Parts: sequence; C-alpha cells; structure tokens
Amino acid sequence: MIRFLTAGESHGKALTTIVEGFPSNLKITKKFIDAQLKRRQMGYGRGGRMKIETDTVEILSGIRYGKTMGSPISLLIRNKDWENWTDLMDAEKKSKGSIKITVPRPGHADLTGISKYNLFDIRNSIERSSARETAARVAAGSVALRLLEEFGIHIGSFVESIGGIFPTQNFADKIYENKIRKDFNSADLSIKADKSSLRVLDKNQEEKIINKIKFAKKTGNTLGGTFFVVATGVPIGLGSFMQYDKKLDADIASAILSINAVKGVEIGQGFQNAMEFGSKAHDEIVMLGKTISRKTNRAGGLEGSISTGLPIVVRGAMKPIATLMRPIKSVDLSKMKNVDARRERSDFVAVPACAVIGETMLAWVIASHLILKFGGDSIEEMKDNFNTYNKKLYDRIRKNFKQ
Ligand SMILES: Cc1cc2nc3c(=O)[nH]c(=O)nc-3n(C[C@H](O)[C@H](O)[C@H](O)COP(=O)(O)O)c2cc1C
Repeated sequence: MIRFLTAGESHGKALTTIVEGFPSNLKITKKFIDAQLKRRQMGYGRGGRMKIETDTVEILSGIRYGKTMGSPISLLIRNKDWENWTDLMDAEKKSKGSIKITVPRPGHADLTGISKYNLFDIRNSIERSSARETAARVAAGSVALRLLEEFGIHIGSFVESIGGIFPTQNFADKIYENKIRKDFNSADLSIKADKSSLRVLDKNQEEKIINKIKFAKKTGNTLGGTFFVVATGVPIGLGSFMQYDKKLDADIASAILSINAVKGVEIGQGFQNAMEFGSKAHDEIVMLGKTISRKTNRAGGLEGSISTGLPIVVRGAMKPIATLMRPIKSVDLSKMKNVDARRERSDFVAVPACAVIGETMLAWVIASHLILKFGGDSIEEMKDNFNTYNKKLYDRIRKNFKQ
C-alpha cells in the first residue's frame, strides 16, 4: 500500500509531503519533480501569487544517488511569499498588525471551515483550504508518475473548456471511438497542451477563451471549466469488483474530486452513455490479431471497475474561482450584517493547473493499484511480477476456455 500526507499552510514557511510504500531502486531526480511543479504553476489567468513563487523541491529523505531506497520519501517546497507573512503566520505570537478576517467568501471554505473548527479568524481556514496545498500533492504524485513510466504507463491531460467555450472537435471523442494510433502515448497530450497558455489542444478555442477571461477580469469575475486526464499503457486487471473499496473507477473519482474546486467527474462517456441505447453505449469485444480488444472505448478503459487495457479517460469539472473582485453578497460575522464578500489576491481561472494536478492524482491511484497487484519491494521484483503476468495472460485465458 502506498500513501502520502501533505502539511503546510498557504503562507506558512513551506509545504511538505511524506510519501511511503514505493519500491526501492526507482530512478527519480529533483529535476523531474521540479518540472511537474513548474507545470502546475502555468496558465493564463493566474493571480499574483504564481509570479512570486518558483516552486522547487528539496529532497529530505528516501532518495540516494538518484534512486529510491524503499524508505519514506520526504519532500519540501518552500513558500517564497512567507517572507511577507512571518508576523501574520507566527506560530506563537499574534502580530500587532494582524487583521481578523470576518467576511466569508461564498463558494470557498471560509464559513464551513470556521464553523466546523471553531476558528477565531477566517484566515485560519483559508490557509489550509487554499489550493497552494496541491503543490505538495504534485510533488508526491511525481513519484507515482515516475513509477508508472517504468511500466510503460503514461498520463496526460488537457483543458477541454473554460467558461463554456468548447473545441470544435474534441480529442476525447477520438479516444472513445478508438480512432487513435495503437501506440498512442497520453504523455504526448500534455506535451501539446503545455504549448498553449490555457493547455487547450485547439488553437481557435484559445483566442476565444482569452477574450472571455479578459472580460471576466475587467468585470471582476472568474471562470471555471472542464479538463481531461488520460492514462495509456495501463495493463488489464487493475482494480476489482470484489469489494466496494477495491474499485478502480471509484478510487479515480474520489482522487479527482479531492482536487480543490472540482465538483464533477466522469469516466469515459459516462453521462453521454446514460442517454444512449445500450448498443450505442457499450464497446464491442473483437479479436485484434492474437489478442482481444474492444472496437470502441466509450467505457473509458474500465469495465467491472477493472482496467481493460485501453486508455483510461477521466473528465473533471472545476467550478469558477470563488474569490471575486466584484464580490457577491455575504455576511460580516463581526456585525452579523449583510455586506459584500471579501476580496483577496486570487486567480481568475485555474483550470490549466487543475488538469496538471489531475494528472498527478490519477497517477497516484493507478500507481497504488499497480503496486497492489504486482507488489515487490524493489522495482526489479515488481517488474518480474508485471512481465510474467502480462506474458501469460492470454495463454491462461486460452487454456481456461479451451473446449
Ligand atoms: C490550481 C487551483 C488554484 C486555485 N486558486 C484559487 C484562488 O486563487 N482563489 C480562490 O478563491 N480559489 C482558488 N481555488 C479554489 C479553492 O482552492 C477552492 O474553491 C477551496 O479550496 C474550497 O474548496 P471547494 O471549492 O472544493 O469547496 C483554486 C483551485 C485550484 C485547483
């Protein structure tokens, strides 16, 4: 079993994560993790914070000479902005200039946070509910991404829409209809998406979205959108229907919904299929040379909560950013009176970053099921198990069903 925890406040000294349960001898470098962190910071429509921070990781334990040792991996990302917050975020003494935040932002974790934790200042809720925490997740998820690469599994993502502006042709449709190259590697999706300031695949769409973001900014508003995360090279047989808590699709949905502001998740053509006849929704099973495959991939790579070997396709929906420069109504808790919600330095749009976080969350879930199935304390042992299973899979099916 692998697990990770993150710690750290948005304007605290640093974010940290402890990653546990990975096999030894997995090659990983600071450069690899930093590259993922940098991708999380990108995207048109981000606020001032991303200009201050240049996220880089410090490896504190678990990696020696570029390889994991099997021991807990601890990673640290310093918050540059902390220098401006040393008094306000002091662990012991309240600073003289400290101003209590009393007006919660609708759509954020401000009111629920202070209510649940009995907090005296909304700042205490903001600090941990901020998506700054996802930098630590991306660092942890980078270890999972690296592990998957060793097994030929790749993850890629792209933004499908922002503010309701969709591409004329959706790349995901090609995947659903299995009209992609057999050697399609989903990491290529990210390479292409990273070239766009919005991480979209359609150039025409980019300009329209930028105009809409400019309009949102001008009018003190924000936007959300939808994104895709795709995994290729996933072997047949990850996940299980044997128990509700062993299901791969349920784990994926939970991981994607755990990302701040993500309120919808779909696996394959989940919602479209609900409107179709069965004959148009399911994927016919066909012989492909000596192996068995499916004509289409509307199921998004999962049947019976088990991976089919086809690309795993996940779609997420991110709500608009909750901090509005032209605020909607809220209540001042110090006066119990209606006022405008509070403004604070904020992103206008963060869907491109959200998709990158989605990659690391999907990588984490697939890595945890891969380790569960193929085990092994070292990467070499795990590869032996993986290769034997894949080599014998079809022979076993043939033998079991021979009349
Ligand atoms: C990459 C990313 C950046 C975000 N940036 C902001 C931001 O600048 N301002 C804001 O109000 N919310 C931002 N959010 C959303 C909040 O973190 C989120 O709404 C908050 O944690 C409450 O959680 P909930 O929306 O899931 O209920 C961001 C989310 C993500 C994924």
